[in-house]
Amino acid sequence: MCSEMLRRKLRHILRFKLLWVLIFTVGTWSFLKIHHKPNYLHHAHLELTGEYPNNYINCSKILQDDQEEIQKVKLELLTVSFRKRPKLTSNDYINMTKDCPSFIKSRKYIMEPLSKEEAMFPIAYSIVIYHKINMFDRLLRSIYAPQNHYCIHVDKKSPESFLAAVKGIASCFDNVFIASQLESVVYASWSRVQADLNCMKDLYRKNSSWKYLINLCGMDFPIKTNQEIVERLKALKGENSLETEKMPANKEARWKKHHEIVDGKVKKMGTDKQHPPLNTPIFSGSAYFVVSRRFVEYVLENSQILAFVEWAKDTYSPDEYLWATIQRIPDVPGAVSASVKYDVSDMNALARFVKWHYFEGDVSKGAPYPPCSGIHIRSVCVFGVGDLNWMLRKHHFFANKFDTDIDPFAVQCLEEYLRDKALYQHRH
Ligand SMILES: *[C@@H]1O[C@H](CO)[C@@H](O)[C@H](O)[C@H]1NC(C)=O
Ligand SMILES: *[C@@H]1O[C@H](CO)[C@@H](O)[C@H](O)[C@H]1NC(C)=O
Ligand SMILES: *[C@@H]1O[C@H](CO)[C@@H](O)[C@H](O)[C@H]1NC(C)=O
Repeated sequence: MCSEMLRRKLRHILRFKLLWVLIFTVGTWSFLKIHHKPNYLHHAHLELTGEYPNNYINCSKILQDDQEEIQKVKLELLTVSFRKRPKLTSNDYINMTKDCPSFIKSRKYIMEPLSKEEAMFPIAYSIVIYHKINMFDRLLRSIYAPQNHYCIHVDKKSPESFLAAVKGIASCFDNVFIASQLESVVYASWSRVQADLNCMKDLYRKNSSWKYLINLCGMDFPIKTNQEIVERLKALKGENSLETEKMPANKEARWKKHHEIVDGKVKKMGTDKQHPPLNTPIFSGSAYFVVSRRFVEYVLENSQILAFVEWAKDTYSPDEYLWATIQRIPDVPGAVSASVKYDVSDMNALARFVKWHYFEGDVSKGAPYPPCSGIHIRSVCVFGVGDLNWMLRKHHFFANKFDTDIDPFAVQCLEEYLRDKALYQHRH
């Protein structure tokens, strides 16, 4: 009798146990389904194709280097209706960003990490701009990911409405902010470096999760997706990637002579400067870098670097040697030896693809890149649609310069291509 009751009790307990196991399993399954799987599907509303529906340019053909289609763009750029097309102004952005959910939706920002790998590898960006709010919006949305961090340095001389529009955009995202200290940026002066340093400090203090820092200006545009950038950054294994080469003799006056800002321009003064407070020679490079968090920490805190930074403040275009030189100082995290064997050209660095007029030519005869399909400004190519096919096969993360006032189709085809790749071509 007693044992019969015990058996029944046992059966009862077992049945309930099974029920609990079942409830637990189904619960866990649906939790994972809801929370752990980013919504890769149903992304049609984030596609950029057809965002400008009244133009008849076929970007697939452009990206395949279809010469007829490229000619079509060149003719379109000359038409009156094209030149008189309406453009979004700072006031439009001030208005649009009063309603952030609607701004984010209508401008098609991607508000979730597209892969676990990207979510686990946040990137910091320092973006130095002064005008063209629509270009900034399109650059930001092309590189935006919720796990990344974006510091925007707006020139002190920029119109109030431009600053207000950038503030409006930043107010719509937790991870986008204006630099705490704004500089009046004078061409070729120290202020250009200081703008990046201000963002570096802010980004470094604000969040400790990001792994690499990339700096940009308003005429840069990505030629890789965030996923591709993350994969390549991981492959660097803590090393930095930037242009750093032997300093040509004709540029030595830039840092051997004292310079001052006179009437808004950097002027060379007669007096010689002291030797730089370094054993490493001065190297030549560009304003743009891809550097590790540890590099940033070192630059902000190491006394030798701080002395070098102080020394560099009265020189011409310090952006074009400062990063290049720090990258060759022993003990700097991710740096390389000062030996000539470690020189890295702009084409070998990941940071930036730029077409200089005097290097353009016939690639089959040894030129580093084909001629500019857009126009030149100060010897640098402002890209046209015909430049895209070739540059997209290079390893650089970003290319410079793009300008929607020169060729908006180049930017449009590039952003459509990258968005399509980000949404549909990486599956994990
Ligand atoms: C654009 O060109 C591609 C291939 O060159 C073609 O498959 C596609 O149908 C074209 N798209 C439109 C909208 O005409
Ligand atoms: C933006 O401006 C339009 C009219 O130009 C107005 O209808 C709209 O309500 C404004 N939006 C906001 C958020 O202020
Ligand atoms: C730092 O950023 C990550 C995302 O990249 C976020 O999850 C984390 O909460 C941030 N930490 C702080 C202290 O804001």
